[in-house]
Amino acid sequence: KTMFTAKRSMQNIRNVAIVGSGLMGSGIAQISASSGFNVTLIDVKKEVLERAMKSINSSLKRVAKKQSGGGAVNSDFASLSMARIKTSENVSSAVADADLIIEAAVENIDLKKGLFAQIEQASKPTAILATNTSSLRLENICKAIDDKTRFAGLHFFNPVPVMKLLEVVRTEETSDETYATLIKFGKAIGKTTVSCKDSPGFIVNRLLIPYCFEAVRMYEREDASMTDIDSAMKLGAGYPMGPFELMDYVGLDTLKFVMDGWVAEYPDNPLFAASPLLDALVSEGKLGRKTGEGFYSYKHKK
Ligand code: 3HC
Repeated sequence: KTMFTAKRSMQNIRNVAIVGSGLMGSGIAQISASSGFNVTLIDVKKEVLERAMKSINSSLKRVAKKQSGGGAVNSDFASLSMARIKTSENVSSAVADADLIIEAAVENIDLKKGLFAQIEQASKPTAILATNTSSLRLENICKAIDDKTRFAGLHFFNPVPVMKLLEVVRTEETSDETYATLIKFGKAIGKTTVSCKDSPGFIVNRLLIPYCFEAVRMYEREDASMTDIDSAMKLGAGYPMGPFELMDYVGLDTLKFVMDGWVAEYPDNPLFAASPLLDALVSEGKLGRKTGEGFYSYKHKK
């Protein structure tokens, strides 16, 4: 009986399918492949997949360089990892042999629900279904899934190859087996896992996003300049980036999207409040580093 329980308590993950090949999906594909898993990266457009493969390749080279510690770079590391990644434009066929399917598509509840309905239909009944959502309630996403025991959240951080944390989020219905398998997967890809209930922002974003918005209000009150707030948090609190640098790095559109969702769902929580300045920057298309300007301008930097 003990052996039977042990065998059933965890699944063996070999094939990982990742739906969505943006910044997060690419990063997840990269670390899964470099940790020895067979990966299928899925997106709707061929050009997007090609771009993702290019960025994975250059990130793998950065990792190889870092691992070499200044010595000879292991050139096989990038090519062997790349060889474990297939791409596909067809969700249903690409998830069919996956043991773990991680959805990293845009933060749109209807899109995610549609994807999970399709994924559940096309996947093996034992496959685990995970979402990398950073702000949507798992409870709402899983309305589209019949077997909710095999669904959970796996929340990664940007840049995925560098950040060591993985938040593993279970719902009331996630089975112990699903949960244990995801913890094991997290360790296998070299991440430290923390557990959190299905709550807004989980651990990191629940603390980090209100902190960033308060930094904007501090600047708007003219208590301190942006650069001084950034310097203060780097040198006085040991953060690698100050709040304005971090917001530009994450993307102001993403932050606005998350905060607007929280304000709508929890209007009475004083920690959740929109920022008129951030809204104005977003409406001007100043979304941070990716557009060359956000709180700071990056136009003259690399
Ligand atoms: N791929 C591979 N390696 C990378 C990389 C990438 N995409 N980005 C950075 N690195 C490596 C570099 O090669 C470098 O290695 P080295 O130490 O051997 O030189 C190392 O990471 C440091 O990079 P840099 O020297 O370029 O720059 P920094 O020292 O400033 O580090 C940083 C960059 C790791 C991004 C650091 O500034 C940092 O940790 N910033 C905070 C990031 C953060 O808070 N992320 C979480 C955001 S919240 C989130 O993601 C949740 C979402 O839901 C919104």
